[in-house]
Amino acid sequence: MSEHELRVSKIHNGTVIDHITGGQALNVLAILGIDGSEGEAISVGMNVPSDRMGSKDIVKVEGRELSQDEVDVLSLIAPDATINIIREYDVVEKHRLERPERVVGVLSCPNRNCISTADEPVDSKFEVLPDGVRCEYCDTIIRDDLAAHISVQ
Ligand code: CTP
Ligand code: ZN
Repeated sequence: MSEHELRVSKIHNGTVIDHITGGQALNVLAILGIDGSEGEAISVGMNVPSDRMGSKDIVKVEGRELSQDEVDVLSLIAPDATINIIREYDVVEKHRLERPERVVGVLSCPNRNCISTADEPVDSKFEVLPDGVRCEYCDTIIRDDLAAHISVQ
């Protein structure tokens, strides 16, 4: 990326989530449970030009790495994203996201009668389909707007 295209500055230590589907950056922040209230340094670029994707979003989180659960849900809303781990300003790891077979404990089932939404200590479990996810308890399928079903952590 040439200097004149650099919209947000480089980070020291943390995670850069790059090549996010345009318009999904705020949902990425929601998945990571970031609302800025904890004082962490976050940079967000939305609809920035990308050679590969036309336009993309990018999120940079200073001082934080991601859990596998977070990465799994990210892959559902931003399948082309890359996760870059930054240490001392260098990219030390770069991962493409892989679509998981199931996601546990991160989405909440929209069916109010589902056992996973009752006051029971039951983790939600969704099987990942090509075009959505299916609750493993009640078979409810979520196809659109997965981000709206992220359970608050
Ligand atoms: N980055 C950053 N801070 C650093 C190092 C890198 O914010 N200290 C960002 C870059 O701006 C870029 C992403 O992390 O958005 C990946 O960096 P790099 O691998 O150097 O860039 P590219 O080669 O363009 O990545 P790709 O091939 O994945 O497009
Ligand atoms: Zn359910």
